[in-house]
Amino acid sequence: MQVYLNGEYMPLGEACVPVLDRGFLFGDGVYEVIPVYAGHPFRLQQHLERLGRSLKETRIPSPHSDEEWKTIFQGLIDTCPDSDAGIYLQVTRGVAVRDHAFPEFVKPTVFAMINPIKPVPDEILRTGIKAVVREDIRWERCDIKSIALLGNVLLRQEAVEAGAMETILLRDGVVTEGAASNVFVIKAGEIVTPAKDELLLGGVTRDLVLELARQHGLPVREAPIREFSLRSADEIWVTSSTKEILPVTSLDGKPVGEGCPGPVWETIRTLYAQCKEKLRTGLDSCQ
Ligand code: PDD
Repeated sequence: MQVYLNGEYMPLGEACVPVLDRGFLFGDGVYEVIPVYAGHPFRLQQHLERLGRSLKETRIPSPHSDEEWKTIFQGLIDTCPDSDAGIYLQVTRGVAVRDHAFPEFVKPTVFAMINPIKPVPDEILRTGIKAVVREDIRWERCDIKSIALLGNVLLRQEAVEAGAMETILLRDGVVTEGAASNVFVIKAGEIVTPAKDELLLGGVTRDLVLELARQHGLPVREAPIREFSLRSADEIWVTSSTKEILPVTSLDGKPVGEGCPGPVWETIRTLYAQCKEKLRTGLDSCQ
């Protein structure tokens, strides 16, 4: 597998970062995950805008222009032009003697790789996934796509150890997001997701779901979701670039709604799939 590191493409096994890299020492960096369908990056502009925002908020100087990012990604896409894949991009503040304060005269480290995305198994689409609910123990700037993911890692592991796939997070009794996803609930046909703020990541998939729902006249609202509404929802979905839109059919061991993927999910999943198909043929209105 070829990867990109600081201006060069090389086999994964040859890509090395110094141990004084601030990503390694402090988790001082940001990242993006961008799906690629049949060689076409999905919602690239939105991912680049979020990257720009994460860099600005962490005060890491932006190492590349949008055009340069596109060229870097294309070099990776060319290594697997036909398959569905995900680009992982990480930018850290760079390599410097260990000191918490920002170093002077340091160049950001840029690393990118492309990995195949496995399609969501049919079984999951038929039955949905299990999720658990936990207190959101993370910091108060979850809007930054930081590589410092220890809170997310510990919370997601709780799901795995409970035999579930995702952890839905509550801060003071209100849903923020999933450990690696955004959350939607559906009640009486209305789609609700938390408004963007500093306590959750503004997901690109989330935004597309809202856009598709509005375009097709489905009732949607960005509003706080209290624990009671989560636990009494007709449907719950979690969304991300790699998992797309997954129906949660069991929450803390209890069925969600009828305990199977719901009708609103079927509708939104079809709309999302149509977007992906348009992108594959290059006829894109969803880019
Ligand atoms: N994570 N919230 C969190 C905490 C996430 O980690 C993610 C995705 C999302 C959804 O964002 P998007 O729709 O833009 O992928 C929300 C990625 C996929 C990851 O860390 O691998």
